[in-house]
Amino acid sequence: MNNRFLWGSSTASYQCEGAWNEDGKAEGMWDMYLHENDYENGDIASDHYHHYEEDIRLLAQGNQNAYRFSLSWPRIIQNREGDINKAGIDHYNKVIDTCIRYGIEPFVTIYHYDLPQYWQEVGGWLNPDICEAYLHYAKVCFDAFHDRVIFWATFNEPKYISIHPYFIGNYPPEHHDITETATASFHVMYASALATQYFRNHYEGSIGIVHSWNPIEGVDDTENTRTAMRHADNYYNNWVLDTAVYGEFPADLIKELSELCDLSFMDEKRLDIIKQNTVDWIGLNYYYRALIKPYETGETILSVNNSGKSGRHTTMTQVKGWFEQIMDPEGIFTDWDFEIIPESLERGLKEAYQKYQVPIYITENGVGCYETISSCIQDDYRIEFMNDHIAAMLNAQECGVDVRGYFAWSTMDLYSWKNGHEKRYGLIGIDFDHKQKRLPKASYYWYRDIIKENGIGINRNRLKKQ
Ligand code: BG6
Repeated sequence: MNNRFLWGSSTASYQCEGAWNEDGKAEGMWDMYLHENDYENGDIASDHYHHYEEDIRLLAQGNQNAYRFSLSWPRIIQNREGDINKAGIDHYNKVIDTCIRYGIEPFVTIYHYDLPQYWQEVGGWLNPDICEAYLHYAKVCFDAFHDRVIFWATFNEPKYISIHPYFIGNYPPEHHDITETATASFHVMYASALATQYFRNHYEGSIGIVHSWNPIEGVDDTENTRTAMRHADNYYNNWVLDTAVYGEFPADLIKELSELCDLSFMDEKRLDIIKQNTVDWIGLNYYYRALIKPYETGETILSVNNSGKSGRHTTMTQVKGWFEQIMDPEGIFTDWDFEIIPESLERGLKEAYQKYQVPIYITENGVGCYETISSCIQDDYRIEFMNDHIAAMLNAQECGVDVRGYFAWSTMDLYSWKNGHEKRYGLIGIDFDHKQKRLPKASYYWYRDIIKENGIGINRNRLKKQ
């Protein structure tokens, strides 16, 4: 087992690979959805499929010792019958071998939103058969790559697999249905437990789940606010993390949901598999907290700023009867309404570790901005952002939190779901107009130097004291 602290960066297959219809890859749900609606798509994206060697070399030259990437289900499995696309396996063998050759730990996510269209057209995550199909896909991946891959994540962000497609409706298939949301959520957590069970029974290594984590904070300390915070925590975090770590969905959430929809799909046998197969670690993707006040009145409102235009008031979450999430009037926000607040990472890490007592990886953290691409991208705002978030992580670590890795999002500029390519997160710029030329930014070199001294160069004085 590798015990060094993992300093790396992350990507996801659909967002960076391109080659959407090459070498036997089946059509993915996002291919179909974005083509059909004439939205900006990831057909080429960063063209990582063809540039993986260069990209992994850049990781190594940047002193990064780990690369978090995801495998593409439609690249590996051809159809609902489960036939394997050998070219897909060959591709990831090359990626993994290149990582090993450069001394980079491959940190592999099995599923990062890119469902094959052949499953989406028969109900996707609502179809109970998908759990066994996911297990088959996961087995193929474990069997092919277990000899070189130690770290496995079953899923990236279950919330974006159920709540965004089926409740908020900004991801395909754009539904707004509470029963569907609960069904998809259950299927994802059950599929995760199935894959964990198979992995444990067959292989050595370490398996976890990656969560889109919003630490919950209240506008005050009244009882009403605390009740709203509990609802918000169940909605944002607990249904993934409690279920993955304790093996049980939060009881109060299930009680409330059962008053809103039929939960008969949660049968004893499947609940038992979830109970028996909890994770070794949790991956927390941290972008921002959720600031909560009590619900007052009105219908559920779920709106997400995918425009990058207004900067304010276009993002809103209010769940009827449960809670309202507000934007701090004093807060600093990106053009996509992501609040920049590293202090919440430190507070949240301490709380999460106290609660779950399992190793934690920061599996994503970064800032998306408009940037002008040139041979010298001076992204000082990203350096400040990373400095402050790494400082928050190190503070939490010093207080005893078992955090074992930090992955910047993202390795290079890539396609951002529904936001296109101009919401840039990369440490390495991509010139999308000139054959996806790689242009390391100032933050890439800064991170290289920080890693070299294992974080010593981080300025810890910029954060507000906790
Ligand atoms: C995470 C996802 O939620 O956030 C990534 O795992 C995503 O896939 C990242 O790109 C940033 O979000 P966005 O919507 O700004 O691309």
